[in-house]
Amino acid sequence: MKAILTAAAAGLAALAFASLAPAEQPVVIKFSHVVAENTPKGKMANRFKELVEEKTGGSVVVEVYPNSQLFTDDNVLEAMQLGDVQMAAPALSKFSRYTDVLALYDLPFLFDDMAAVDRFQQGEQGQAMLDSMSKKGILGLGYLHNGMKQLSSSKPLRVPADAEGLKFRIMPSEVLEAQFEALDAAPLKKPFSEVFTLLQTKAIDGQENSWSNIYSKKFYEVQPYITETNHGLLDYMVVTSKEFWTGLSDDQRAQVTEALDEAIAYGNQMAEELEVEDRQLIAESGRSEIIELTPEERAQWVDAMKPVWQQFEKEIGPELIQAAYRANDSGDAGPSK
Ligand code: LMR
Repeated sequence: MKAILTAAAAGLAALAFASLAPAEQPVVIKFSHVVAENTPKGKMANRFKELVEEKTGGSVVVEVYPNSQLFTDDNVLEAMQLGDVQMAAPALSKFSRYTDVLALYDLPFLFDDMAAVDRFQQGEQGQAMLDSMSKKGILGLGYLHNGMKQLSSSKPLRVPADAEGLKFRIMPSEVLEAQFEALDAAPLKKPFSEVFTLLQTKAIDGQENSWSNIYSKKFYEVQPYITETNHGLLDYMVVTSKEFWTGLSDDQRAQVTEALDEAIAYGNQMAEELEVEDRQLIAESGRSEIIELTPEERAQWVDAMKPVWQQFEKEIGPELIQAAYRANDSGDAGPSK
């Protein structure tokens, strides 16, 4: 009798659990990225996880996969369309298969500083670009900063002619390809996860990246020279799939949005700090010489790379390029160039 009662109780409990289970299953956001955890994006993703789980009371949980553990930037967007990953924040140079307009951000020497980037991104055109992939089922939820790119190399690079004939790894962007072709160098599109080994084995001579990526992935240990060119921008778009996003409840969507806004603000703060700190750590390491350019030398890089703008004017749109360029004018000090 006791056994029958116990079995009946167990059956009832199982039934109760089964009827409750669907409602209690948390929504899982897999957030995949390629950089180290001690970077603006790595820190932002970890903070996002904490904030989402706190704000939703655990009804939405975030699993962060750093260091290309789950997907590389080459396949993460396809995985997102298939529902295998829910969020990612690839560099803006990695969306070229999905939209033309984001190529804008790869134009060399477009923005003077991160304040100009913010002014443009928060304006009408910058915000509209977040929607540029919605027809492909990908939604931009916000921009995240890393910083300006520098050129690292096996040879000292002071003037553009020094780069001639060298092999540089680039992200998959035609603008970046044209930028290195303008220097008579050889660009090679390779995933971020392979860069260290390519540099270490001397399969390539150099690469371009932010101070934070050069430090956290130890590129400076295998690149004896880094030229402080600040020639381009390394920035991200936090993206999700339309299907996933519209499947969240209104409350969850609002809570996740709030968490993301806070996490992005924190990530941007980290970007500002790490740009200075990681540069300093590299300088102190003695492993790589940081080459600072004179204004005359820098002008030569601008002259060599800027013709790329014209090459892509039609594809990106001249109005968009002008609007981004005008963001360098803060409004109080007049045009900066
Ligand atoms: C790169 O591929 O060089 C970077 O975009 C990696 C990253 O996400 O910062």
